[in-house]
Amino acid sequence: MASILRVALKTHSYPIVLGARLLPAIQKEFSAQAKRGRRVIAVVDKTFAQKNHAFVKKLGVETILFPTSEKTKTLAQLQKLLSELSKRKLERTGILAAIGGGVLGDMAGFAAACYLRGIDFYQVPTTLLAMVDSSVGGKTGVNLPEGKNLVGAFRQPLGVFADTELLKTLPAREFNAGMAEVIKTALLADAALFKKLEAISPLKWNSPQLPQIIKTCCAVKARVVAADEFETAKNDGRALLNLGHTFGHAVEKVGGFGNYLHGEAVALGLMMAAHLSVSQKTLSKKDADKISALLKKQGLPVRLKKPLKATALFDALTRDKKVRAGKLRFVTLKKIATAHTVQAIDKKAILAAFKSAGAR
Ligand SMILES: NC(=O)c1ccc[n+]([C@@H]2O[C@H](COP(=O)([O-])OP(=O)(O)OC[C@H]3O[C@@H](n4cnc5c(N)ncnc54)[C@H](O)[C@@H]3O)[C@@H](O)[C@H]2O)c1
Repeated sequence: MASILRVALKTHSYPIVLGARLLPAIQKEFSAQAKRGRRVIAVVDKTFAQKNHAFVKKLGVETILFPTSEKTKTLAQLQKLLSELSKRKLERTGILAAIGGGVLGDMAGFAAACYLRGIDFYQVPTTLLAMVDSSVGGKTGVNLPEGKNLVGAFRQPLGVFADTELLKTLPAREFNAGMAEVIKTALLADAALFKKLEAISPLKWNSPQLPQIIKTCCAVKARVVAADEFETAKNDGRALLNLGHTFGHAVEKVGGFGNYLHGEAVALGLMMAAHLSVSQKTLSKKDADKISALLKKQGLPVRLKKPLKATALFDALTRDKKVRAGKLRFVTLKKIATAHTVQAIDKKAILAAFKSAGAR
């Protein structure tokens, strides 16, 4: 059974349709657009398509298969996609459907944001990470060699279809990486979810509790985004969703894009943020240990695979988008399910947080 959650923004609101086996609902949506004279092109993650031929075929729309990995989330790949849309003469009334994980969704979403100065798009996330996080909220973009997601745009989709049946072919390591964002959501805003995860982890794609957990995560994200869509709040607001990400992006950058899955880097970032919170005397050591135990239970790393240089990681931090007026901003925890943004943390404390996860 499908359920619908609305993301209610000031100028635009859209549904997230959640459930298992949503193909008929997606077909219905696309054919309704076709009847209105709007051409839909599905930009599909190539790996997903190889494992889900029938699903892609039955969508009944033109498709562009696109190889995706963090290493290919680049301006060069974006240009290829834009050229392809142009060669196919997609007009302004055209609609993209981004079908894939967070990389594909971010890139195709950005293509929609800038092709012909902006066209509409849908998100059909096919990884857990994309279902609970990247497909919701309208952040799109690609990486630069200098850092993650440094070019992009805010562009909200027309709608999101999160079909848990599509997770059947997702490798377990990728599923676990998505669980890092679920754990992040619990740490930000939902103590009951954290307790639930402690009791039932490790979760798998077919765990009966998964659809409700995805819905809870989307609801938290939708609420935070609705309150601060463009991340302009002076404190807290949408920036809270970056818990673990400022550290995590540095790990991805210095560890080499692709060596750590995004979610694995976030798991390490969550541990570093927990360590920083303990050192700032806001979080108890007991709570930090609980976080570490839960991440491990879900098969996520809490220490670097091999030691990276703490100073190199620090340098990567200073290029992060979250730098404001030259000052680094971090999200730290007061306790499980209560987070806040803090500025001007001592460099020593940050280096110590990196070292707590095995940096040297
Ligand atoms: N826009 C946002 O708000 C936001 C939020 C969080 C993360 N992100 C971004 O999301 C990206 C990470 O996304 P991800 O973890 O989904 O990674 P991903 O998109 O790289 O997908 C992971 C892998 O799984 C494959 N795949 C996808 N669906 C599959 C399926 N159902 N079956 C089999 N294989 C499948 C992909 O081809 C890829 O190899 C990062 O680039 C990150 O920056 C964006």
